[in-house]
Amino acid sequence: MDKYNYGMIGLGTMGANLVLNMSDHGFSVAGYDKSVKQADLLNKAAEGRNIKAFTDIAQFVAALELPRMILLLVPAGAIVNAVINDLKPLISKDDIIVDCGNSHFVDTQLRIDHLAQENIHFMGLGVSGGETGARLGPSIMPGGNIEAYKKLSPMLEAVSAKVNGSPCTAYMGSGAAGHYVKMVHNGIEYAIMQMIAECYMLLRSYAGLNNNELHEVFDTWNKGRLQSFLIEITAAILLQKDDTTDSMLVDMISDTAHQLGTGAWMSQDAMATGSPIPSIDAAVSARSLSSMKQERVNASKILKGPNAGIAKDREAFIKQLEEALYAGYVLTYAQGLAMLKSSSDFYKYGTDITTVARIWRGGCIIRATMLEDIMETYETEPDLKNILNGKKFSEAINASQAALRSIVQTGAGLGIPLPSFSANLGYFDSYRTALLPANLIQAQRDFFGAHTYERTDKEGIFHTVWNATVQ
Ligand code: 6PG
Repeated sequence: MDKYNYGMIGLGTMGANLVLNMSDHGFSVAGYDKSVKQADLLNKAAEGRNIKAFTDIAQFVAALELPRMILLLVPAGAIVNAVINDLKPLISKDDIIVDCGNSHFVDTQLRIDHLAQENIHFMGLGVSGGETGARLGPSIMPGGNIEAYKKLSPMLEAVSAKVNGSPCTAYMGSGAAGHYVKMVHNGIEYAIMQMIAECYMLLRSYAGLNNNELHEVFDTWNKGRLQSFLIEITAAILLQKDDTTDSMLVDMISDTAHQLGTGAWMSQDAMATGSPIPSIDAAVSARSLSSMKQERVNASKILKGPNAGIAKDREAFIKQLEEALYAGYVLTYAQGLAMLKSSSDFYKYGTDITTVARIWRGGCIIRATMLEDIMETYETEPDLKNILNGKKFSEAINASQAALRSIVQTGAGLGIPLPSFSANLGYFDSYRTALLPANLIQAQRDFFGAHTYERTDKEGIFHTVWNATVQ
């Protein structure tokens, strides 16, 4: 019996779709799932293809070519460890296990180190694009041992999305780089989703638009420089009718956003490594606040803000909002990619940021036309710390900052919460300010804790015995 080129553990929709995608490109795949139902579903969908699903892990492993290349599409966390433990007695030296889930990069590094002791390669690989992406072409972010990557790369390039013929996958770097890049992707995803939601709230409450009008606005924006997957699906969502009532579906969905963790992990690591990503932090907190529904309902009866207003010139407001959202997108990509660049140095991943921008242009959730400009900016100046300093984006943000400022003012004046827009403006104004008030913070730290400070006029570390004592 011919052995299978690849193994896939976890035959839920993502796993099964990726298997079918691999098969479309000529790879034979053995699947494994504990659930008989999942295995049967794949065997049915696989009729006439070189695919076979197993429910016995030993038979599954025995059916694979050597060295074995086994992909995992199982939920992040304890299940990944359980699968590794089940596999360990059955696999051998030089085999490659590839975790395609949204695992925490710290866990991935531990697993890499642990399995390296047995000469087994463990790789962390980010897959973005949801169920449709997995079936038709996702963006794929692999990291880990370069030799192991080379064995996988022909398959990854074949199944990935393509932009102008270029595959939306490439080597992201050593160690847990693949999962780190995916975490950054997801953090950017959180902030963009939050800003779109903020636009939706302004357009509904201040511009007074109904769902059809909202659809028109997002649809129009999607034809301009905001063209992106998340704007496109927003326009589509606003047209969806509810099956069980006369309402539109979006109006029947509870206003409590959930999160699986990747956005929060990015914020945690940003704090730990000293990277400023306030629009992403704000988006994570905004989801947490949204989930405190009962507390918000109670507070709404006690805490008062300004009265709502209505836009005098709707068309002008919508234009300004489009410009502010463009600024927000640029600032969010700027923060995420600047963090990725500095983290790649910190963790010694060797991630190439131009390549990251290139593979995010298609297949993934944050795909957007402006990534073309971001890629070109890094291509022209590969050492750029932040795209805001590149010619194209410095000009663009200088031109659109006034709109962002006005939108944040409008929200503040009306009491409409705009956490990610506001955080982006705060980032922009801090980043472009040569003299910040941090001298006073240093003085306070030295006053109460003798933490020392540097001076503007000479080199060295200084401490002052401050004149006043405060009880
Ligand atoms: C993607 C998505 C995907 C998943 C998110 C959802 O790139 O395809 O990011 O990975 O939908 O993890 O994350 P939250 O549940 O935290 O919103």
